[in-house]
Amino acid sequence: MKFLVHTYGCQMNVRDSEAVEALMVAAGHEKAASEEEAELVIVNSCTVRQKAEEKAVGKAGNLIAAKKVVGLAGCAVKRMGEDVFKRLPKLDFAVGPRALGMIPKIVADGRYPRLELGEDGMSEALSAHVGGGFQAFVTILVGCDNRCSYCIVPDVRGHEYSRPAREVVAEVRSLVSNGVKEVCLLGQSVLRYGMRNAAWGDCDAPSPGGYVEPFPRLLEALASIPGLERIRFTSAHPKGCTDELVRAYAEFPQVCRHLHLPVQSGSDRVLAEMGRRYTRAEYLAAVAKLRAFDPEFAVTTDVIVGYPGETEEDFEQTRSLMEEAGFDNSFVFKYSPRPGTRSAAKPDDVPTEEKERRDQVLLADQEVRGQKRNERLVGTVREVLVEGPSKRNASRWSGRDGGNRIVVWDPAGKPPAQGERAWLKIVGARPQILVGEAVERPAGK
Ligand code: 5AD
Ligand code: SF4
Repeated sequence: MKFLVHTYGCQMNVRDSEAVEALMVAAGHEKAASEEEAELVIVNSCTVRQKAEEKAVGKAGNLIAAKKVVGLAGCAVKRMGEDVFKRLPKLDFAVGPRALGMIPKIVADGRYPRLELGEDGMSEALSAHVGGGFQAFVTILVGCDNRCSYCIVPDVRGHEYSRPAREVVAEVRSLVSNGVKEVCLLGQSVLRYGMRNAAWGDCDAPSPGGYVEPFPRLLEALASIPGLERIRFTSAHPKGCTDELVRAYAEFPQVCRHLHLPVQSGSDRVLAEMGRRYTRAEYLAAVAKLRAFDPEFAVTTDVIVGYPGETEEDFEQTRSLMEEAGFDNSFVFKYSPRPGTRSAAKPDDVPTEEKERRDQVLLADQEVRGQKRNERLVGTVREVLVEGPSKRNASRWSGRDGGNRIVVWDPAGKPPAQGERAWLKIVGARPQILVGEAVERPAGK
């Protein structure tokens, strides 16, 4: 069949969709060139906020109306369970986030409607890749046991489980032998790698550098793979910012000096209610630790505005924390109560307009801060991996530096290939983008 996968949500979902594509192609199906051409469409859904879920369900509804075979996959399916067929009575099949590997079998059986919410097919889906690009996502940890008060992820993605390090290293080796230069390790809380279940076994060779914590030890093992130029990972919790992690950042040049460290709030009272297990001071100490060894270390974050009972004073605490932390970028979300979470039992009492106002204030602050932080880099030379023509202006080229900052430049008729390294002198700064000029490869690089 000619199929397409339509993705909503986070990078984890992007990765899951890639695995579904790979498994479908391996089963003999063909990726359609357009939605019109597709006979089967799989919508990979998100449910982190109500709006995200509605978008995915709405999309599936439209596809059903267009008489396609339609499957809904991912987080929203797990949240709704059997009710998914009440929302979409003509849906063909629905699979939860740990059952995506079942999709080719479900399609082969063709017995609809069908619902799969278990874990069959999980390991197949973890290791399947489409390939072709120079960047790849690699899931190292699934699920989450943190149970933050507002968050539905533990309910839909299940318990935390770390894949064996041996498996991860073999997968990255194979990706690199197929042309991958940059991997991004994925998990809800990657720094908890190997904490709930062992990731390293007795038969694994000991860490050459004496690393004892499982995640820094994984970074060490991956940094020894020839040809792998960059290692990124997301998402993280400040408790994982240990001395060993900082040592790995400092020791392995492949490990990009960027961390996405969701803070959620700057108010100790709200942080405690959210069950985040750190205070404002502890969070800021983690950021300071990363910037102490490299002042240009990029830190990005997620923030929720309008959590139940969030006062103007709480909000101002968030504002000031964001300034103190000097975030390079931030993503602001308006609180959305999720059924079954602890905070859903509290009144959602910050009015929509006030959530919107707080959102706008933080966005405006970030524009000013992003501009200032980027201006500090004017005059420096940044190494980027080339991503291709810029989305906004195709005569310009675009790439990312180690801090995940986008740099655009005019290749003056000599555009480098995707995945190549380029060195750019920064000549201009905007809140979200750096502007560069190509320079010669510096000596020793
Ligand atoms: N409402 C709003 N935002 C949320 N997030 C998680 N749960 C909710 C919710 N119920 C945000 C957090 C998280 C990001 C992926 O989504 O900021 O880091
Ligand atoms: Fe990703 Fe969370 Fe959305 Fe699932 S619910 S797709 S884990 S953001």
